[in-house]
Parts: sequence; C-alpha cells; structure tokens
Amino acid sequence: MPFDTVETSLDESGNAIVPATTEAPSILLIQPKDAPLIAYANMCTHSACPIIPDLEKEQIVCDPNCGHGSIYSLDGNVLVGPSMSPLFKFPVERADTELVITIQYGA
Ligand code: FES
Repeated sequence: MPFDTVETSLDESGNAIVPATTEAPSILLIQPKDAPLIAYANMCTHSACPIIPDLEKEQIVCDPNCGHGSIYSLDGNVLVGPSMSPLFKFPVERADTELVITIQYGA
C-alpha cells in the first residue's frame, strides 16, 4: 500500500489542513471538544470547494467564496444543501508523535 508522509501542525484548537499529495487529497483535521480527532477530505461533496470548521457552531461550512452555502454537522452529515452527500471521512490513528490517516478509494 503506498503512503505519503506530510508534515503539518495543528493550530491552537487542534485543527489542521494537510496539503494534498500525489497519493491523497488535502485533508481537514478537526478536533471537536471531548471527541476524537476527525479527518475529512478537504472538499465539499457538492462541487469540491474547500471546507472550513466552525467549532463554535459545531458545524463545517463550505468555503463562502463558492457562494453555494452547504453546511455539515461535525460528524460530516449535510445540514443545509445544495450538497446531498456527507463529507468523505477517513480513520485517524495516533502513533507516537504521528497521525496516520488511512485513505481507501472504492472501498
Ligand atoms: S461547492 Fe460547497 S456548496 Fe457548492
């Protein structure tokens, strides 16, 4: 199984954007309060614009610059369309000082 190693740092809220590689899309890592870290493909499932966490409102919003307005819950489900599909979510494991995000296509 191919893998890439990417360095990134979490912000003060525990969130990060992992840049895309040749093997993987950009990943949005979010740290909800009192819940495990979550990894999503950093793209709205409507037309693939970037997504942005709004932890105050416990939502993930599509980039306002796209002008469509989809909103997701922190568990990735659609709250407000036009998107009709949940975000692409990937398992995250902590391994010492690293995070391992497993991305499977067509699974
Ligand atoms: S690309 Fe996100 S709502 Fe259209």
